Amino acid sequence: MRRRAPVIVLGALLLAGRSLPGQVPVAEYAARRAALGAMTGDGVTVVLGRGEPAHDFETFSQSPDLRYLTGWTQPNAALVLVRTNGAQRELLFVAPRSAAEEVWTGPRPSLADAARMAGLPVRDVREFTATCDSLLAAGNAMRIVGEFRGAATAAGESVTNDRVFLDALAQRHPGARVSQDERSLLLLRARKSAAEIALLRSAIAITVQAHEDVMRMVTPGWNEFEVQALVEYTFRRNGAERPGFTSITGSADNTTTLHYWQNDRPMRDGELLLMDIGASYAGYSADVTRTVPLSGRFTAPQRAIYELVRRAQVAGEQATKIGAPLNAPNEAASEVLARGLVSLGLMESPTATYDCDSTGQRTCRQLGLYYMHGLGHGIGLEVHDPDIAYFSTWSEGSVMTIEPGIYVRRNLAEVLPDTPRNRALLARLQPALATYAGIGVRIEDDYLLTAAGLEWLSKAPREVAEVEAAMQAPRASAPRPRDPALVERYRRALP
Ligand code: GLY
Ligand code: MN
Ligand code: MN
Repeated sequence: MRRRAPVIVLGALLLAGRSLPGQVPVAEYAARRAALGAMTGDGVTVVLGRGEPAHDFETFSQSPDLRYLTGWTQPNAALVLVRTNGAQRELLFVAPRSAAEEVWTGPRPSLADAARMAGLPVRDVREFTATCDSLLAAGNAMRIVGEFRGAATAAGESVTNDRVFLDALAQRHPGARVSQDERSLLLLRARKSAAEIALLRSAIAITVQAHEDVMRMVTPGWNEFEVQALVEYTFRRNGAERPGFTSITGSADNTTTLHYWQNDRPMRDGELLLMDIGASYAGYSADVTRTVPLSGRFTAPQRAIYELVRRAQVAGEQATKIGAPLNAPNEAASEVLARGLVSLGLMESPTATYDCDSTGQRTCRQLGLYYMHGLGHGIGLEVHDPDIAYFSTWSEGSVMTIEPGIYVRRNLAEVLPDTPRNRALLARLQPALATYAGIGVRIEDDYLLTAAGLEWLSKAPREVAEVEAAMQAPRASAPRPRDPALVERYRRALP
């Protein structure tokens, strides 16, 4: 997509009602900041955006927290809220124009344009640290809202930008009241607004189209990476920014690897293809999985597993009701899976266990041999987004996935701790394992919970007959035309 000159874009933006990317009204961002301030109370609240990637060739994506509060999508920005007796002053710090740096990364809005776009007072980000220092020196309490647990490094550390920033402030201002806050924004982000739901609907529509394009075109002989390429082509040409997570396009035994990412294997007739994919549109990510038979028809064992997973999904859907306990859907789906796996000979009874450590002291449910993940999660600015699950029971405004799966690992014997009880168990399960080994099925859909019930958002072919019909249709030679409405809506909203 071509980059537009900033002045023209700004004009379009103003005409469009001063919305930042994704058409969330500027007033809604202001309301979100006011809600955060009301939760945190008097004092200073700081939210950091992400910095420029370490290398020019790496992709930048904004911190979901700053994007949620401001819509700002450029690197090197930060938000400061100063609340005194309930009155809130707000400052957005952004990178200033720099002809020399723009040679590398493209045009930036001026500070004045940024202020108009964001509907906020704007300062040069080079004043940010000094501003924080002087607010602390004046005796204000400061709260850093962000992420304080990162992925562990090889050395076992877990350091995020927010942690580094907080530690540096605390070191410069011994005795100052500086605290971390991971929870307030999660609670706000859990409940989706109408504008957010509209963006999620677009992300999901693009993702459904990608699934349908693959189902119309794929044939045995394709490599898994061709499926990934077609999926991501469909995403981008419909205006999605990028995949919301690493696309999973695994076939045959690779369907049993939960986060398979290599996507490099020629596919053959008779195999399953599992696609776990999600477009990120204006920052909002879909997350939809389909498992399809490359020959056009499921084999009997594939079909047995598929139908069982689908029944579990229906049980999960039916248990997702306003007021129901949060674990009700997973319990309902697990119950269906367990009973079904018993009837297939893959479990001994719905509550049967195995030794899950080598001492034989600890036992786990046999269901966990084939179903190792949770039933679902919220989606939003992150593919695993804060969800209504932060509250005590299901309530309105949740957009989430329901994604049961069964994965029969061919090397299950190596996965289990080697104990006498497990060896005996494997011997008893052997006939069923021989039938189902290498079959992995996940069915994942996106839903919105409202007072009227659970709305299914990701309407790609899903029942056995629908999937088989899609896969048996004459092969198309090109994807369907892109959806001009989606692309135009996104282009109009670009900063
Ligand atoms: N695609 C990641 C997940 O399903 O949670
Ligand atoms: Mn997924
Ligand atoms: Mn998911």
